[in-house]
Amino acid sequence: MTETLILPETQDRATRYHALIPQIHALLQDEDDLIASLANTAAGLFHGLNVLWAGFYLVKHDALVLGPFQGPIACSRIKLGHGVCGQSWAQRKTIVVDDVDEFPGHIACSSASKSEIVVPILRQNQVVGVLDIDSIHLKDFSDIDRVALEDLTRVLSTKF
Ligand code: SME
Repeated sequence: MTETLILPETQDRATRYHALIPQIHALLQDEDDLIASLANTAAGLFHGLNVLWAGFYLVKHDALVLGPFQGPIACSRIKLGHGVCGQSWAQRKTIVVDDVDEFPGHIACSSASKSEIVVPILRQNQVVGVLDIDSIHLKDFSDIDRVALEDLTRVLSTKF
């Protein structure tokens, strides 16, 4: 396959996921390597969703450690319960933040970030990492994102 994403002109999220998700699945299908899988997924989501930052933090001992991502440089370690990522890890659930300034303890890696979604990656009932996406727009994430990204993390969990 060629490594070029084919995306619709519209910014409508459901339409973008409809085009994007099968292409990410195709990239993941024949790739067992974790880093290669996460790196291409981060790039696909970053370009496919037009966001500020898309990437992964991986559970290593008592912290989330920065993994493959696209976007501005980010903090490299997050403790359990800290920030949106650490809360998603602790609560083992997806967190959608409409306005990061309203989220107690939000870790501002970039002042341009206004809203965020964090989806935990579960392997054998344990959180092994989180998918984090940041947007420059308030309220940029909804149930459409949650459902699509939770599906994607189920596929990614098989690579761990
Ligand atoms: N905002 C996140 C930190 C990671 S960056 O957004 C890439 C948080 O509060 O956990």
